[in-house]
Amino acid sequence: MNKLQEQIINQIKSSAPISFYEFMKMALYDKEFGYYFTSKEKIGRSGDFYTSSNISSAFGALLAKECLEMHSKIINIPLGKLHKFNNILTIIEVGAGTGQLAFDILYTMEKELNFPLAKIKYLIQEISPAMQALQKNLLAPFSSQIEWIELEELKNSPKEAIIIANEVIDSFPIHQIRWYKKELQELYIDIDGEKLTPFWQNIEKMPKNIAFYLEHLSFEFVDKQVIEINLEAIDWLKQISDVLKKGFVIIIDYGDLSDHLYSLDHFEGTLRCFFQHMTNSNYLENIGSQDITTDVNFEILMKFAQYNKLETLSFMRQADYLIKLGLLDRLQKMIELDPSSFQSLKARLAIKNFFIPGGISDHFKVLILKKI
Ligand SMILES: C[S@@+](CC[C@H](N)C(=O)[O-])C[C@H]1O[C@@H](n2cnc3c(N)ncnc32)[C@H](O)[C@@H]1O
Repeated sequence: MNKLQEQIINQIKSSAPISFYEFMKMALYDKEFGYYFTSKEKIGRSGDFYTSSNISSAFGALLAKECLEMHSKIINIPLGKLHKFNNILTIIEVGAGTGQLAFDILYTMEKELNFPLAKIKYLIQEISPAMQALQKNLLAPFSSQIEWIELEELKNSPKEAIIIANEVIDSFPIHQIRWYKKELQELYIDIDGEKLTPFWQNIEKMPKNIAFYLEHLSFEFVDKQVIEINLEAIDWLKQISDVLKKGFVIIIDYGDLSDHLYSLDHFEGTLRCFFQHMTNSNYLENIGSQDITTDVNFEILMKFAQYNKLETLSFMRQADYLIKLGLLDRLQKMIELDPSSFQSLKARLAIKNFFIPGGISDHFKVLILKKI
């Protein structure tokens, strides 16, 4: 039994069973042993999963282009004339992982788009000190542009900025609930001897925030159907709206609209774990050593964004978004510049992951919000 498991068992012994939400929060974010708080490698070949930013630098390069266009819209100066003005482009990245996306955006701004680094402020809000350490290491060449911040701190001086959250909302702890014989039940974790064991408990008195969330699903659920409720995503939308005076929010994650998310394909919900590049549903195993994640309900995000003065500009598949930003032209240029080296072939094959059917980009969606 590992230390985190022991800690969870002791907590249940000394008080009461915990909700799955509390369990997931400890498994991922316990300050000592939680998955994201340990120094174990998570993202990349020796980790448990890849993210788009760690698949190819083309991802960050295309987002850099997007950020520059958004900046030109925020300050109302045409792209071609930006060089004549000294307005600062502020990017706030939430949950920056290894720091690869920040690196690729800043690198592209300077080397490809000729946008001076001195005119960029890149703020990172990262919950995990272990991930912050990785980011600081990789981003050392851009240290004058970057600051690690808490969103809370920015509330008093909202910014004109672009906020980016790539594969972050899926890692927020969620409540799992199900309909059972016309009752609503929530998943809890108890102990059986020295073993953790899940059980469903009727929700006797519905918390207001869960009731409000459910009202927005507008979906007919069938008996025993399990769904996830991501209340932290809702709180987060308010938080980001509070720090944004004017600007854009780019949310990229796997997930869908309610119709697809709650189809019978996902009858048991979308909760899954990643361990050494394999998925499994055994969240009570490898606690603190494997990722736990769920699909994002983008319909809910759009509805609650509205309440926070964030207007939906677009919602699309990641593949379509990247193609719109010039992914195929980029690929074409790579072939023209270097048609035959192994290095170039490898880079091109990595890019193909973004648009081959059934690949990563089929499941990923991009939601762009705007605050005026
Ligand atoms: C799945 S990783 C994605 C990393 C990165 N965005 C990328 O593209 O590779 C999730 C990241 O979000 C961070 N994170 C999770 N919850 C967070 C929160 N509430 N605020 C800030 N960072 C968070 C994690 O520590 C981790 O760095």
